[in-house]
Formats: sequence, C-alpha cells, structure tokens
Amino acid sequence: MKLLFLGDVMGRSGRDAISERLPGLIAEYGFDFVVINGENASHGRGLTEPHYKDLRAAGADAVTLGDHAWDQRDTLGYIAREPTLIRPVNMNTGTPGRGANLIEGRNGHRVLVINALGRVFMDPIDDPFRAVEAAIAACPLGEQADAVIVDFHTEATSEIQGMGFFLDGRASLVVGTHTHIPTADARILKGGTALMADAGMCGDFDSIIGMDADEPLNRFLTGIPRERFTPADGEATLCGVAIETDPRTGIAIRVSPVRIGGTLSQALPFA
Ligand SMILES: [Fe+2]
Ligand SMILES: [Fe+2]
Repeated sequence: MKLLFLGDVMGRSGRDAISERLPGLIAEYGFDFVVINGENASHGRGLTEPHYKDLRAAGADAVTLGDHAWDQRDTLGYIAREPTLIRPVNMNTGTPGRGANLIEGRNGHRVLVINALGRVFMDPIDDPFRAVEAAIAACPLGEQADAVIVDFHTEATSEIQGMGFFLDGRASLVVGTHTHIPTADARILKGGTALMADAGMCGDFDSIIGMDADEPLNRFLTGIPRERFTPADGEATLCGVAIETDPRTGIAIRVSPVRIGGTLSQALPFA
C-alpha cells in the first residue's frame, strides 16, 4: 500500500498547488491513501468548510489539524459531521470532532489516522504519548488497521523523534507538522515505523514559514507589530513524505521525502 502525507497547507498558494498537482500525483504513483494537514489552509489560519471540501475533492482521504484547529469559527460547527477531518486527540474531553479515526481509502484499505499536539514549546495540553497509544490500542496495526498514520503537531524535532521511537512497530508513519520546514531525516526505524521530524508546508517558500517576510522580519528587528501577517502568494512547494507498507503487517518498507514545485530543491516520491 502506498501512502502520501502532505504538511500544513498554507493559504491560497498551498490550496492551489494541491488542487493542481495532487490528482496527477495520485494517478502517477498509485497512492492508495492521502493525508493532508489543513490547519493553515484558510488565509494561514484554520480551515473553513469550503476549503476542507476542496482538499477532499483534490484527493485527501483524511485532513488533520493542529494548534490552529479553531481559528475559523465554523470548524466547530462542521467537524462533528466530517469523520475524515481529524483534530488533535489530546484536547479536552468534550472537544467537538475526532482525534483519531479508521478511514477507508479508495482501494478499500483501512487506515487509522491520528493527530496529536506536542508539549515542548507549545501551549499546555494533555499527554500526547498516552493519548496516541490508547487510540492505536483500540485499533491495532495489522489487525483492524492496514496502516496507522500519526501526524504529531509540535515545535521540537526531539519530541517527534520521541513519538517515533515510542510507537516503533505500532505505526506505519510518524511525521511531524507545525514548523513548516521539511527535515531531511526520513527513515525507517528498527521496528518498521517510518519517521520524519517535519513534513514541511505546502506553501510559498519565498516567505518566513509561509507569511510574507516583511512583517515577521519587522517584528524580529523592532519587537513592535506594524501590520497583520499575510500569507505569501507565490508558487507553492508541496512538501511531505511518501511511504510504502508491507501489505501483511502494515509496517513501512519504503519512505521518501516529497518536495514538488516552487522554490525548494525537488524530491519526487520514491525517486
Ligand atoms: Fe502550521
Ligand atoms: Fe501549527
């Protein structure tokens, strides 16, 4: 089974790149399942229902969120009726939506998709490790789930690597999101879990993590806000990671970074 994970979609630039390129990528590489992090798809903040539907229409089987989950108020209204929209699992009891779900892909594979928020350099939140472990225990890899994908949304690469080793052999892929910068460490751990510390964003890299550089730079230099952050609107690089799993066990047998379009160096799936 082949799976594609794409990192934080940043504004219109990211959405347009997904609509233009994802259908072709799915066809060309035969991806059975696609997960996209959509936490910044709507003007860099949150995910409106129309933009969520755009990501689904382009080929996302599941869409994950992060610390920007509720930046668009309407997300609280529609998330409960969208079983393929996954918010962080370690939020307060009673939070609308699902933190994990077993989702059937286009070719009948069942994939457990989990989103979690980290705690290093992030706002206080419940233990992500035990929350993810409980979700997997309820739907183990190689039993109910043909694959398990964990989108661990946090700032520190060390925390994501911790999650990877914690889940080694129990997840097909542990991938970080949130920093918007792709890392070069994609590999398969000894137990068969593919790990990449950050998928990177789907957005315009002629920017500071997706925003026009002027205002973030101004704040670094002066400490005084001058205007709002504006998502950069040049051509996006689609950033993420592709894996192939063993059909019997669900563990990863191939992993490769993906960077397509825009200004970053290019990396095609399984090249
Ligand atoms: Fe993000
Ligand atoms: Fe984030």
